[in-house]
Amino acid sequence: MKTIIEPFRMKSVEPLTLTTESEREIYLKEANYNLFALKSDHVLIDLLTDSGTSAMSTKQWAGIQLGDESYAGSPSYYRFEKAVKELAPFKHIIPTHQGRAAEKILFSILENKNKVIPNNTHFDTTRANIESCQIEALDLVRKEGLDPELIHPFKGNIDLDKLRNLLETRGDDVPLVMLTITNNSGGGQPVSMANIRATKALCDEFGKLLFLDACRFAENAYFIKLREQGYADKMPKEIVQEIFSYADGMTMSAKKDALVNMGGWLAMNDDDLAMKARNVLILTEGFPTYGGLSGRDLDAIAVGLEEIVDEDYLSYRLASTAYLGNALDKLGIPIMKPVGGHAVYIDARRMLPHLAPLEYPGQALAIEMYRLGGIRACEIGTVMFGRQADGSEQAAAMDLVRLAIPRRVYTQSHMDYCIECLAELNSNKDKLKAIKITWEPSMLRHFTAHFSLIE
Ligand code: F0G
Repeated sequence: MKTIIEPFRMKSVEPLTLTTESEREIYLKEANYNLFALKSDHVLIDLLTDSGTSAMSTKQWAGIQLGDESYAGSPSYYRFEKAVKELAPFKHIIPTHQGRAAEKILFSILENKNKVIPNNTHFDTTRANIESCQIEALDLVRKEGLDPELIHPFKGNIDLDKLRNLLETRGDDVPLVMLTITNNSGGGQPVSMANIRATKALCDEFGKLLFLDACRFAENAYFIKLREQGYADKMPKEIVQEIFSYADGMTMSAKKDALVNMGGWLAMNDDDLAMKARNVLILTEGFPTYGGLSGRDLDAIAVGLEEIVDEDYLSYRLASTAYLGNALDKLGIPIMKPVGGHAVYIDARRMLPHLAPLEYPGQALAIEMYRLGGIRACEIGTVMFGRQADGSEQAAAMDLVRLAIPRRVYTQSHMDYCIECLAELNSNKDKLKAIKITWEPSMLRHFTAHFSLIE
């Protein structure tokens, strides 16, 4: 059989609320046209994020029942630690309540004077956490990663020449090197094993630690299986193990590829760094065997990590994301190609050429998707990245709208509905209006800014 089906069936269901266009127009006004301000029960298909939105399996819910809530030394912690080490055998596994807490702890224990941390592309919270520690966050993705139309198997790769140049010219200022797998801000594009290996070799040459921002490690591993020579016959788990064998540590949001609704961890081999991290952890998250999570959450992660490397799941996951992306491509809607692992990214700047970047084409598109079809997506463009540290405003490298697909939640007919809605939107796209920001906070403005449509 060629059809790749959802490798699960439903046991408990959650009803969706249907709303009308005129109701949604009111909800939009009430939300100041910021989709983060909508009530989620006014959203029909929620593609805002794939983070913390997974459906858990029967085995994970059984794991929840087994959770042991002891303050210290809970068996849930040891099951969690064993499951993490099975894939990523770092010496120290430090649980946190989510990925950004792991990031915050990591960056706060580094020296910060004149420092710079390179990455293929820092995710927004990662960048903000680095900058809030007075460290510079530098994106060094290869140029292919910035061309939405270009077909390349590993558009998440870091530019090794630029990284070498940085290490040669400012080596003393680099406390560690990061790679984000998959590259979320750059379209959910994978990083090749060759690129990870070469980054590690450069780090070794210059005596630097390599940390992976590994939220979507399993999706990245499956892309390696499908696209990189020498990996077709390997099990996803083996590929994951090889990926982590090149790293000195990781930050993780378990809300993605650990299939849970809350959780994360920081891991590393360095004893001194781990001691400092645990000291901060105790101050901000909790004791090292629970670090911001309940015992039951740790058990759900342990099971999720077994399920995420299942070949049938991963094959379905990438195929179902590609199903949506390829259908939009056929409609002539410009998308980031090839389709990423967890999301389809529409190139709003190209789809809406009548809107300049500072008229926020991504936000205009996301607003219209909700108004027309009750679909919630997320702008990843000039609203998210346009405000500079010096207060000025610039067009972001790209104006994308991300349709992130929650894991094991929606069926193919939900995706067919989204495709139909986008087909209709596409035929009236010239009518979409420019957007103005009427209020914004001092940082991470996309979450809370107010917008209006320019009539
Ligand atoms: N790194 C990457 C690459 C991410 O995508 C995220 C979260 C984080 C770190 C932070 O993890 O949310 O657990 O604190 N991404 C979500 C998203 C929010 O919608 O892409 P967190």
